[in-house]
Amino acid sequence: MNPIQRLSLHPMTPTTLPTATVLQPRQVEQLITGQATSDGAGVKLTRVLTQNLQRRLDPFLMLDAFGSDHPDDYIAGFPDHPHRGFETVTYMIAGRMQHRDSAGHEGLLENGGVQWMTAGRGVIHSEIPQQQEGVMEGFQLWLNLPGRDKMSQPWYRDFKAAELPGFVTDAGVVVTVIAGVSHGVTGAVTREATAPLYLDLHLPDGASFNQPLPAQHNAFLYVYRGELQVGTTPVPVQRMAILANDAQADGVVLQAKGDTRALLIAGQPLNEAIAQYGPFVMNTQQELHQAMDDFRAGRLA
Ligand code: FE2
Repeated sequence: MNPIQRLSLHPMTPTTLPTATVLQPRQVEQLITGQATSDGAGVKLTRVLTQNLQRRLDPFLMLDAFGSDHPDDYIAGFPDHPHRGFETVTYMIAGRMQHRDSAGHEGLLENGGVQWMTAGRGVIHSEIPQQQEGVMEGFQLWLNLPGRDKMSQPWYRDFKAAELPGFVTDAGVVVTVIAGVSHGVTGAVTREATAPLYLDLHLPDGASFNQPLPAQHNAFLYVYRGELQVGTTPVPVQRMAILANDAQADGVVLQAKGDTRALLIAGQPLNEAIAQYGPFVMNTQQELHQAMDDFRAGRLA
C-alpha cells in the first residue's frame, strides 16, 4: 500500500502511467444474474458468484453484493461465525460496519474502505452495522488459499478509502487498485499464489479502459452502475460478465455507456480440489470434518 501513489497520480498532475496496451481483447463468455438470498442474522444480499461457478472462476469462491436503504435488510448484521481455509475481502461503498474477531482485531469499515481478512487456520468474527438508517452498500469476495496455506496464521488489514492506491486515466476513468497491479500502480494487497487483481472502476460516459490480463487467469466483471460494452456484448447493471479464457487474448477492453461503475476481478487458478461446508473451504472432506470438530471443540480460533 502506498498512499503517495494516489497523490502523485492526481488528475491535474502530469502522469507517467505506462500504456496498458491490449491488442486482442477477451470476449464475454456468459452473463450471470445474481441470486437473492440472505445470510448472517438475516442480511438481504445478492449472491453473484455462486458455488456452481467456483471451478470456472477458480480461485474465487463467492461474490456477494449488498445494497439497501431499508435498515431491516441489514441491521442484524453477521454475528459471531467461523471461517477457515480462504480469504474474505469486504469493500464498503456506503455505510458503516464494525468488525471484531477472535485474533483480537477490531475495526470500523466505512465509505470506500476495504477489509482484507485471511482466515487461514481459523477466525471467528462478527460484522455488525453501526447505523440505524441510511444506505448500506458493498461487496464481499471470497478468495481461496492454496492447500499449503489453508492452515496459516490468520491475517487482517483495514484500508480506509484514502489509503487505497489508485489513479485516473487520460480518459477520466477513476481506478482504485484493491489488489494486483494496474497501469503500473500496485494495489493494497498482492498475493503470490492466486495473483488476484481487484479493481473498482468509475468510468464517465463513453470512456474506455484497457486492462492486460494473463490468458490463463480467470476473470469477471460486475457492473453496479450504468452499463459496459465488452467487445460485442453489452453488460447491463447488476450483471456479472465472465470473460472468456482465450489463449490468444492479452486483456480486456471496456467502454462505458453512461456513467458506469464496475468491479474487474481476475486471478490465477489454483487447480486444486475444492471442498466447502458453509464457512469452511478446504481441499478434502476429511479436512472439512476436522474444521467442524475443531470449531465444536473450541480449537478453531
Ligand atoms: Fe465472515
